[in-house]
Amino acid sequence: MFRVAVINGANLNLLGAREPVHYGLKTLEDIARDLEREFKEKITFNFFQSNSEGALIDHVQGLKNIDGIVINPGAFTHTSIALRDALLARSLPTIEVHLSNVHAREPFRKHSYFSDICRGTISGLGPQVYRLAIFGLLSILAE
Ligand code: DQA
Repeated sequence: MFRVAVINGANLNLLGAREPVHYGLKTLEDIARDLEREFKEKITFNFFQSNSEGALIDHVQGLKNIDGIVINPGAFTHTSIALRDALLARSLPTIEVHLSNVHAREPFRKHSYFSDICRGTISGLGPQVYRLAIFGLLSILAE
């Protein structure tokens, strides 16, 4: 079994109710349940969401026995050098995900502080970005 941390940042606790045109109708709990179900034979998940940049950094620093990370930093994607540095300090294989296509929205969403330090970025396919990221991590971890 691999151990994967799935980390969600600001406002992602509102999935399902928040701007469904961009983010779809599934809640974060739905997404977590679907991942647990699909990958139950291969992965033990550690799920975490916070609206606080400091709490996200503390969580990344405190992760123990983790093989890889899937992260959707929310709006911290476009602002947080501190969360970027926390991930760099861990040097774990990490995949960045976004439910919406950040390149098809406001110009300020085009820049990410995470894309260049992640093994890959998946953006714009709705809730399935999380499962696609897990497939990516599984192939990286099998290398
Ligand atoms: C997001 C995209 C970000 O620009 C935005 O601030 C979010 C969600 C996404 O999943 O599409 O909160 O990360």
